[in-house]
Amino acid sequence: MQDLLTEIAEAAAANPDKGAVATYIPELAGIDPDQFGMAIALADGRVFTSGDADVPFSIQSVSKVFALALALGRVGDQLWYRVGREPSGLSFDSILLLEREDGIPRNPFINAGALVTTDTYLSGSSPREALGELLRFIRAAADDDSIHMNEKVAKSEIATGHRNFSLAHYLASHGNLRSSVDKVLGTYCHQCAVEMTCRQLAIAGRFLVDAPNMPSLVSVERRRRINALMMTCGHYDGSGDFAFRVGMPGKSGVGGGILVISPSRAAIAVWSPGLNRYGNSKLGTEAMELFAHRTGWSVF
Ligand code: DON
Repeated sequence: MQDLLTEIAEAAAANPDKGAVATYIPELAGIDPDQFGMAIALADGRVFTSGDADVPFSIQSVSKVFALALALGRVGDQLWYRVGREPSGLSFDSILLLEREDGIPRNPFINAGALVTTDTYLSGSSPREALGELLRFIRAAADDDSIHMNEKVAKSEIATGHRNFSLAHYLASHGNLRSSVDKVLGTYCHQCAVEMTCRQLAIAGRFLVDAPNMPSLVSVERRRRINALMMTCGHYDGSGDFAFRVGMPGKSGVGGGILVISPSRAAIAVWSPGLNRYGNSKLGTEAMELFAHRTGWSVF
């Protein structure tokens, strides 16, 4: 396994096309695209890493997996009255379907849907308490109390998040937010600003792996459903492409991180900040494609 991860990191370093770093969040625009890290946390407890696996990055939309787990923990299947379970076929920040579908976002991984899951775990508590609960969940999953949020990234996104504000106002106009737009956005942007390394993220992902001795933070049924949503919706309008090329459930973030689950085997985290045209890590996707090819771990 170590040889494979080293080979994949070397292939990434040699690839001249790193993709383009996201610039719409000013605090992330200056990140060096020439970085690549990968980590795998196997079900037997072994962890292997390569490249920049111990460099912290902004997990961004990968946080939507933890937020979904938390929201389901709060309200269970009631959540599905407020957010759907279908891929959108549109970019992560699209507002198009919200109008046609009465303010019910297609799934919890596009921004509109994630605003609803944030509103769900926020409900009844202050943003500080809710974010504390989210951090406790992530730290317990990763078995690492040092994980934190980057305040500068959160502020940077709140200051420029016009699209997310418009999505939130649209949800509110349909009665699909319980807390104020400002509270939901503040909480959501802090959630996205959690920083983790590939090593921490891979270890944290083990709660989604079906094997003995994994942290049991969600029920078996929820774990299956979260994996199903990662497979169908985890890469936005690139979800079909990721399933085709990799064949494992994954969730990407605009910071360039991807969390991938090999059911019953391992959780894998890969990070490289340059993105492809869907807003998912370019080298990260290619690395996972090579990894899946070599291991035969596609679920299909
Ligand atoms: O809300 C946003 O736009 C970002 N905080 C997160 C988007 C994201 O990560 C999309 N992923 N590829």
